Amino acid sequence: MALCRPARTLPIAAAAISVVLFAPAASAGGSHDSAALFTPGTPGVGDPYFPLEGNGGYDVQHYGLDLAYAPATDRLDGTVVITAHATQNLSRFDLDLQNLKASSVTVNGRRASFAQSGQELQVTPRSGLRKGGVFIATVRYGGVPKTIVGSPIVFGSPYGFLHTPDGAFVGAEPNAASTWYPSNDHPSDKAPFTIRITVPEGLGAISNGVLLSERTKGGKTTFVWDQRQPMATYLATVDIGKWQVKQSTTPGGVPNYVAVDPGLLESQPDALDFFTDTTAQATDLWSSLYGKYPFDTAGAIADDARYEGQPLGFSLETQSKPVYSAVRDTTTIAHEMAHQWFGDSVTPAQWKDIWLNESFATWSHYYWNERQGGASVHDQVRSVYNARPFPDAANRPYWSVVVADPQRDTMFNDRVYSGGAMVLQFLREKIGDEAFFELLRTWHADHEYGNVTTEQFTALAKKISRQDLDPFFQTWLYTPGKHPLP
Ligand code: ARG
Ligand code: ZN
Repeated sequence: MALCRPARTLPIAAAAISVVLFAPAASAGGSHDSAALFTPGTPGVGDPYFPLEGNGGYDVQHYGLDLAYAPATDRLDGTVVITAHATQNLSRFDLDLQNLKASSVTVNGRRASFAQSGQELQVTPRSGLRKGGVFIATVRYGGVPKTIVGSPIVFGSPYGFLHTPDGAFVGAEPNAASTWYPSNDHPSDKAPFTIRITVPEGLGAISNGVLLSERTKGGKTTFVWDQRQPMATYLATVDIGKWQVKQSTTPGGVPNYVAVDPGLLESQPDALDFFTDTTAQATDLWSSLYGKYPFDTAGAIADDARYEGQPLGFSLETQSKPVYSAVRDTTTIAHEMAHQWFGDSVTPAQWKDIWLNESFATWSHYYWNERQGGASVHDQVRSVYNARPFPDAANRPYWSVVVADPQRDTMFNDRVYSGGAMVLQFLREKIGDEAFFELLRTWHADHEYGNVTTEQFTALAKKISRQDLDPFFQTWLYTPGKHPLP
């Protein structure tokens, strides 16, 4: 019989415990339907690009990560406390965990049996978990995290957990969260996070949200970070190493926490001020355009993150503080900060809708360029349009990629970036500035901290503009090819 037992005192489950206390009692009072069916949760959430990402049968309410990283051996050891809400009667459920070994699992404080196969960690609790109840799964695990290398998804750039000369860098989009913590690794299941991380004294560990505490004892320092608003698993980060930190507040009143690897300061001594000022300017500009900044802090984490001598090929909009693998230009910073609204606060429910992240951030950085005195957005998208040959050059797909369903291995193709920004700009020219900016503001306001689909966006665009936009969207979002300029 499923009984949701009250949580015992767990290390960093303060938020988790309150969830349990205020959740409707699971099956307390013991129903007598011993015939009730308890079945396994599915090993994926049904995302066609990543069939095994995420898991069925539950919805995470809070992640409590308690990690220790030893740069000398590259070993990561941790305990993760997952508070979840069962969405079916569960006989067992999966978590995602790649290349790391679980050593013990408990559910509601009782030892559970578990098995690992591929990226699935299969957990069988002593008794079934009743639909509607909240349960707490605690996983102890460890190992040397493996960087994902050679995947076509991101055109060969390594990603995930990367060992650096002074520590580690984490940029896990789209599917590498499970290479460093057990999770329900899919953007459709967002939850607040508390991240506690212990490193050798003298090093720092920067993560999402606000720093709650920092304590040194016995040669080790423990940092506790709290990301109070829901976060998709791929947006979590811990970046370990030596840091120069500058804390400030943007002119618009948003806290701004910037950490830069001193290695980067050797060649760019003003990088700390540069990241601070540009992040502040972008945060305030997007706040005025898209609505109040959705998180407790803004910031930047700039690491000297190289793979075989070359800086990683990407930056990532890790929630509240994007990560940068080198000193990047202001356009990139504007792009990553625009993602805080589009991508982080408002998150696609499926990976095929990734244009809802990248096209919006790219349109935003074009707008930024124009404001900095560069070409107008109108002209920028037309230069992209003209520069891209049709048909696509062999091995360089662009027009053949469908903006609203780009396929897994081309999900970060430039068609989703510049090509989707083009669609947004054409939409703007069609419906006018007033409707366009109202659309972006309403889109964020209506779905803040939630998940969305392309169809929700097109429906809102039609509603706000009071235009029949179906043929426009059909052409530009769903039909491959280089269409005539509207
Ligand atoms: N979302 C990132 C951006 O701001 C791109 C990340 C691509 N790389 C990766 N490893 N997922 O454009
Ligand atoms: Zn982006």
